Amino acid sequence: MESIKLLERLSLAFGPSGYEHEIAEIMTGELKNKTKVKKDRLGSIIFEKKGLDAQPRIMLAAHMDEVGFIIQNITKKGFLRFYPIGGWVSQTLPGQRIIIKGKKGYAEGIIGSIPPHFLKKKEENKKMEIEDMLIDIGAKSDKQVKELFGIEIGSFATPLPYFSKMKNPHLFMGKAFDNRIGCALIINLFHRMEKESHPNTLVGAGTVQEEVGLRGAKTVAEYVKPDMAIVLEAPPADDFPGITKDKPQGALGGGVQIRCFDPTMIGNVKLKELVIETAEKNRIKYQLAVRTGGGTDAGAIHISGIGVPTIVFGVPVRYTHSHIGMMNTEDYDSALKLLFKFLKRLNKETVAKL
Ligand code: CO
Repeated sequence: MESIKLLERLSLAFGPSGYEHEIAEIMTGELKNKTKVKKDRLGSIIFEKKGLDAQPRIMLAAHMDEVGFIIQNITKKGFLRFYPIGGWVSQTLPGQRIIIKGKKGYAEGIIGSIPPHFLKKKEENKKMEIEDMLIDIGAKSDKQVKELFGIEIGSFATPLPYFSKMKNPHLFMGKAFDNRIGCALIINLFHRMEKESHPNTLVGAGTVQEEVGLRGAKTVAEYVKPDMAIVLEAPPADDFPGITKDKPQGALGGGVQIRCFDPTMIGNVKLKELVIETAEKNRIKYQLAVRTGGGTDAGAIHISGIGVPTIVFGVPVRYTHSHIGMMNTEDYDSALKLLFKFLKRLNKETVAKL
């Protein structure tokens, strides 16, 4: 992977849904000299680069937000009650480290858990609900939370930033791979396309608020009015023991995942065939997926305007929507290569036939 540093910066940045501007700034810094930068009024960021004919308009969309938390209340003793932003499984939370963005900077805390010493036998296996959990930032009182930390009701929080290289080659662990991987792909793609001539207008979109219901994708699609779209995602890997009885469709090292179906979108069939043909021709490793749950920005984009032929490329991530994900950079490389090779095939005639 050519830009692990870029992925690291994006992964470590703070960006729960509704608070994505740090990510938008990184993307803008990378692309402002190469594209025309626009913003919609919900906060999504749009990078446009006209080709020779300026059409068709091809949109590459990646959501910038990550799952996180919002401070819902502050107890008298200075503990923080929180509400999840996006999909979390409650059992992954107790004992985990958190950062909260207060008016006086970032504060680190931990989601408190009760040590085994204090638990009765029957309580040990009881599931704890998020509404019963508290973040401990080491504050002495509600007054101190406000005055010293600048944290108040409505402050945002995420898992503590983390990024590391693993012993086996190509494997990395980190925060918010869903979907900083997609953001990195857009940046790398524009860099790679810089010297290529093509007829299309390429539009990269960093969308907001995907994790709370594809909200940014709706306004971005209205604004960009694409003729075709590719959504770049970091879908959950299903190769951890016990997830599937059959062959995984999102295995680490299995290549770029091409999504045929999920409950929010049926991938455009002709587009999918063209993508697969491109992968075969260029010997790019890929895996096909039919997903029975979840969804992506594509769910909103493909039914915008008069309809937009759309497909989703994914780089699978294990343990997504928990504190740390794991990914294989070879899958990233496959996704980038497929994107690059595929975009070079597109023109007015090809897109009109979709
Ligand atoms: Co995602």
